[in-house]
Order: sequence, then C-alpha cells, then structure tokens
Amino acid sequence: MQANPLPYKFIVLDGVEGCGKSTQVELLAQCLQQMGEEVVVTHEPGGTAVGEAIRSVLLDADREMSALTEAFLFCASRAQHMQEVIEPALAAGKIVVCDRFSSATAAYQGYAGGLGLELFKQLDDMATGARQPDMTIILDLEPAKGRNRKQPATQPDRIERKDDDFHRRVREGFLEYARQLGPRAAIVNADSSPQQIHQAVLEVLGIESQAGRVQHK
Ligand code: TMP
Repeated sequence: MQANPLPYKFIVLDGVEGCGKSTQVELLAQCLQQMGEEVVVTHEPGGTAVGEAIRSVLLDADREMSALTEAFLFCASRAQHMQEVIEPALAAGKIVVCDRFSSATAAYQGYAGGLGLELFKQLDDMATGARQPDMTIILDLEPAKGRNRKQPATQPDRIERKDDDFHRRVREGFLEYARQLGPRAAIVNADSSPQQIHQAVLEVLGIESQAGRVQHK
C-alpha cells in the first residue's frame, strides 16, 4: 500500500534549556531522509551569516538588554532566516526542521521576559510574514532537569544564566503558547530517553517506524 505524503513541511522543535531538542532534530531529520524526503535542518537564532552575527550579540554574557531589544533582535534574525533559508526550501518542496522558532520568542521574551504575547505576535508576524510552522513540538521538561543535562564545562550564556524563576516561567510560556497554537502544536514529555522522545515525536507527526522501515501512516 502507498504511504500518505507527510502533511507537515515546516516542523519546529523547541523547549527549555537542556530538553534535548538538538538531538531530536537530528534523529527526526535522519528519519525523514530515510523516507526519501529532502530535509533542511536549521536553527534560531542564526541559520544565516547575519543571523549568526545577531546570535553572538544576543548571547554575549557581558551585554545586558531589555526583553523588547531581545525580541527585535531574535525577530531580525528570523526575518533573514525566513527569506534566505526557510521560504526557498519550502518553495523547492523540501522539509524544514528548525531548532527553535517563534515559540522561543513567545516563551522567553513574551512570557518570561514580560513583553506580553500580543507585542510578541506583532513583531513575530512582521518577521515571518505571518507564515507559521505546520507543527511546533514542545519538548517539555522541568528546567532543573534540563540544567543537569547540560555540559558542566561550558560557560552559561547570557540567557542560560538567568535565574530559576525565569526558566520556570519559560516552561510555562511554552505550554501556554502551545495551547494557543491548538492543532499546530504538540507537547511531548522530554523526561525520558532520547529514543523514547524520538518515538513520541514520530507519533505526533504520524510517522510509523517498524523494523527499519519508516513511512507516514
Ligand atoms: P540555543 O541554545 O537553542 O541555541 O538557543 C539560544 C538561546 O536563545 C536559548 O537560551 C534560547 C534563546 N532564545 C530566545 O530567548 N528567544 C528566541 O526567540 C530564540 C530563538 C532563542
């Protein structure tokens, strides 16, 4: 029997620090490639030369800035990313798997940073041209558990080193934003092994993986 084509072309994985999204992005991309899809893996902030320059300003531990300034910079990186990478890839029929996107601005600046979800939405719509991912998967984890998973040798960046209360609000922000997105978002419990989380991600996308064969149900 012919498998159905994947209805999701633009997929985002997001969540609190240390939730394992980069591992899941890789596992998902491999799986989609096995299905014969052309996949573009990308990330925010960054994904373009301008975006990477903005990223280094944003994460520099020696620079303080307001949530509004942060939101402008994350959205500036996103505008370039949309134009240079995401839109062309989707137009060419490729699948885009993106590590963080609008959901992170909603959670970190809109919710935890106190900017508000309305102002977030105005800036984000300008950056994306109101083109939203087909599916945003939030890997949900207690921030304290995520922090313990991070490499102890790496210096925390400007956002990672914000206090526990901020990171708890980030988690609430992701859950609240996912509720607002309705059927375009899913919450996956990230308090399990990478393989179990991967299976849950495939389940959300309606992908069957059995005995080395992967296909959309
Ligand atoms: P990363 O660690 O996943 O590369 O993300 C970099 C940091 O940027 C991380 O602390 C989350 C934060 N971030 C925001 O605060 N707002 C955003 O819109 C994005 C994309 C990331």
